[in-house]
Order: sequence, then C-alpha cells, then structure tokens
Amino acid sequence: MRLATGILFTEKQIRQRVDELAAQIDLDYRGQPLVLCAVLKGSIPFLADLMRRLTGDVRLALIEMKSQVDGKHASILFTSRLDLAGKHALIVEDIVDTGITLDYLIKHLEVERSPASIRVAAFLDKPTARKLDVPVNYRGFTVPDKFVVGYGLDWQERYRNLPYITWVEPE
Ligand code: IMP
Repeated sequence: MRLATGILFTEKQIRQRVDELAAQIDLDYRGQPLVLCAVLKGSIPFLADLMRRLTGDVRLALIEMKSQVDGKHASILFTSRLDLAGKHALIVEDIVDTGITLDYLIKHLEVERSPASIRVAAFLDKPTARKLDVPVNYRGFTVPDKFVVGYGLDWQERYRNLPYITWVEPE
C-alpha cells in the first residue's frame, strides 16, 4: 500500500469542524461535568484539539482497546483512573467503521461504570462498513469506503502524524 496523493480533509477544514463540534458540545452540556473517554491511540489529535476548545468542567480518561483481527470482538487493554459513576461520559473516537469496538465499549462502560449518560464523538464515520448499529452523536466527517490515515489514524502504525486526512491505496 502507498499513500494517496489526494487529500480528503485539510488542516483548515479539520480546525473549522472541530470548532463547530466543540461549540455544540459546550451548548449541550452547559457546564455539567463531562468526562471525555478517549480511545487510544488514534483519537489523540482530535482529543487534544477538541478538549482545548471546550469551556465547561471537562475531565479526561484514556482507554486502550483491541479491535480483534477476526472483526467480531473487541476488548479493553487499559483504562486510566476512571470515575464515571453518575457523570456524563463522552467517548472520543478516531473513526467508527464496523462499530464493533464502540459497541463493546459503550456496553462495558454502562455495565461497569454506571455513568449518568454516554454519548459518542467520532472524528470520522465510515457508514458503508457498519455491522452494528451504534450511536454517533457528534460526527466530524463522513468518509467513503477507503482506508483513511492522518490526524491520529494509522496504517500499520504509520501516518498518524499527518495533520490532514488522506488514504492509502494499493501500489
Ligand atoms: P470498528 O470497530 O471497525 O468500528 O473500528 C475500530 C478501529 O479500527 C478504529 O477505532 C480505528 O482505530 C480502526 N480503523 C477502522 N477503519 C480505519 C481506517 O480507515 N483507517 C485507520 N484506522 C481505521
């Protein structure tokens, strides 16, 4: 695979969209404490940009997950100290593809952590690949059925550092 020459979303487009999402989230939670539950590693640039634009009472938890290679199961590898009981949780994801990872995480947090509510902020949404019906309450952009990289998203751990979104394609 090699990096495509085209760009799907530029730095400027990303900045504008993250501004809009943050404004909407601020409005919806209106100063109620909010715990951002960021899924490592792909969400890091989105998390960093989003959280700096939020003006309310924002706390942070980090979660590392494994999206199983068989495409059917997910599991949780690590969570930072995480007190969600009675608090509003906002899962911060890089991309929702099949929905398997997110479905597992939502159910896990509901059962194990008893939050007051759970919503999802996904920087990218690839609806063509969806296998499970999961909520995406705040969506940055919808992407076509390509393997996208940049702004935290990787292909074999590469390209996370690109400040824009592009894709990889067969050589
Ligand atoms: P899902 O469980 O299929 O919804 O996706 C789980 C994870 O797969 C995402 O959080 C990403 O880390 C990764 N992923 C899915 N599609 C892409 C892509 O197009 N580019 C990079 N990573 C992806």
